[in-house]
Amino acid sequence: MIDENDGNIIRMFHVYRRYGPKNALIDITLDVSKNEFLFITGPSGAGKSTLLKLLYLKEPVSEGQILIDGMNLSRVSAKRIPFLRRKIGIIFQDYKLIPTKTVFENVALVLEVAGKKRRLIEKKVKSVLRTVGMEERLNSFPPVLSGGEQQRVAVARAVVGDPKIILADEPTGSLDSESAGIVMDFLKRFHTRGSTVIIATHDKELIRKTGGRAVHLKEGRLKEKMNIEHRTSNIEHRMGNDEETEL
Ligand SMILES: Nc1ncnc2c1ncn2[C@@H]1O[C@H](COP(=O)(O)OP(=O)(O)O)[C@@H](O)[C@H]1O
Ligand SMILES: [Mg+2]
Repeated sequence: MIDENDGNIIRMFHVYRRYGPKNALIDITLDVSKNEFLFITGPSGAGKSTLLKLLYLKEPVSEGQILIDGMNLSRVSAKRIPFLRRKIGIIFQDYKLIPTKTVFENVALVLEVAGKKRRLIEKKVKSVLRTVGMEERLNSFPPVLSGGEQQRVAVARAVVGDPKIILADEPTGSLDSESAGIVMDFLKRFHTRGSTVIIATHDKELIRKTGGRAVHLKEGRLKEKMNIEHRTSNIEHRMGNDEETEL
């Protein structure tokens, strides 16, 4: 029986993804618990983006099963796919904002598609843009913004619908380290508010700086799991509670 949540918002069972003769993902079994902050790491071509594409239903598995929030993706009818997608916010390396729509419109679109009322949309979009420090750029078009600013708008778009899951594919890959830090801080903040966050990155330094659980992909296989304690939280942990043994 695999129709259970067990506190896991995502469950993957022996998942394969093939492109013709190419095995992009091989026998992936992975549980992601609710409100986890998880990195998927590995070199270019390892299968990170493919894994995320399966989770946001861009592509089907070739074999195996995926459950998201208790729903088996292979049994979801086409009609219900949009509802399932609304549980997920996505962030890409190249932002993927619509260049001919303003910052406000780019973020509002998510809620319009979900059929939300105009007044609520306006309130919510402004509030989220304020959170990522982009409220002054409501009426700007993406091409005039810096990469870091565009990615902050993309983060706003990903979270505006209050998704249970946020997926980010190399979200800092095109950013300088300062902008990267800002974007990671926002992802951390939305994680603290209750979302499950999964970040695909080849950047080991980013993982070291951020801390958290990381799973490693190599040539389509889940190779190893590491738990990297965040340095700062380690120190806070020691200072705050001397008698507690370190994990
Ligand atoms: N649409 C596709 N058609 C054929 N091969 C693909 C396709 N998408 C990905 N691949 C291959 O699958 C492997 C994993 O790709 P990808 O998931 O993009 O890796 P990563 O994101 O870790 O760099 C690569 O060898 C890539 O060439
Ligand atoms: Mg990739």
